[in-house]
Amino acid sequence: MNLICACFAGVLASGAQSVQAQQSQIPDTIAQRAIACAACHGKEGRATNDGFFPRIAGKPAGYLYNQLVNFRDGRRQNPQMTYMVGHMSNAFLQELAEYFASLHPPYPPPQLSNAASTALERGRTLVMSGDRSRNIPACVACHGQKLSGTLPAIPSLLGLPRDYLNSQFGAWKTGTRRAAAPDCMAKISRQLSPEDISAVSSWLASQPIPNDMTPSPASSIKLPIACGSVPQ
Ligand code: HEC
Ligand code: HEC
Repeated sequence: MNLICACFAGVLASGAQSVQAQQSQIPDTIAQRAIACAACHGKEGRATNDGFFPRIAGKPAGYLYNQLVNFRDGRRQNPQMTYMVGHMSNAFLQELAEYFASLHPPYPPPQLSNAASTALERGRTLVMSGDRSRNIPACVACHGQKLSGTLPAIPSLLGLPRDYLNSQFGAWKTGTRRAAAPDCMAKISRQLSPEDISAVSSWLASQPIPNDMTPSPASSIKLPIACGSVPQ
């Protein structure tokens, strides 16, 4: 009887030890909590080369934070993201934003484009120079000459799938993606024709990634039009 008790107690004790060991192997860190995000955004937020899941790694923390708050508060609509961040506090969203901003995993290869060369050239011209006659500023004026984004709140435009890019312009046009007023991207999107959008998205998604993708400093640009999400 005593022997059985001793054995049983021993099993319990070793069971408790192994639970404890498991718990101490999984510390409650931000990296651990961010694993849930990788299911859609890829390992370390690097994204994949197709579909609607954007890369989040390496984007300025201020930009990522604004987006997380926008999903939570309904300015940006996507059921999966709203569900993810629905109950998260500003402080935790800030932590997630800083965590992903600090990661720089490799990019997926550029997407080959079967768009006509005239369309790709139109896309390149809009990105690099804009179109004065239609009030469209050059994208590089804000997103930076290398398109690697600008601190603290303007994202990079490279390494994003074409489908994702197209859907963002659609969302700005229909008002399902909004930022603090004045919403410069909504304004610019309304100036772009469907052909312009397709040209810009195809060109951007097919660009090689420069070696240095760190966002440009805030002082390197002067916004051609005001953006409410960018402190000036
Ligand atoms: C079930 C899939 C799914 C999960 C899990 C998920 N996301 Fe997302 N996320 C998406 C989709 C889809 C989009 C693009 C939505 C759109 O088109 O506006 C997105 C967009 C974003 C954006 C905006 C990116 C940009 O460039 O504007 C951020 C930031 C983001 N997610 C962060 C996170 C974080 C942090 C987590 C984990 C807490 C997470 N996501 C978990 C599906 C997911
Ligand atoms: C006046 C400055 C400005 C100009 C010019 C500008 N952008 Fe933006 N862009 C922004 C800001 C600010 C954001 C972040 C908006 C937000 O917080 O939702 C942004 C976000 C984006 C995003 C979202 C990326 C993502 O990961 O979801 C895309 C795509 C984009 N811009 C494309 C363009 C293109 C293409 C052009 C040129 C036709 C352009 N932008 C010109 C300021 C600008």
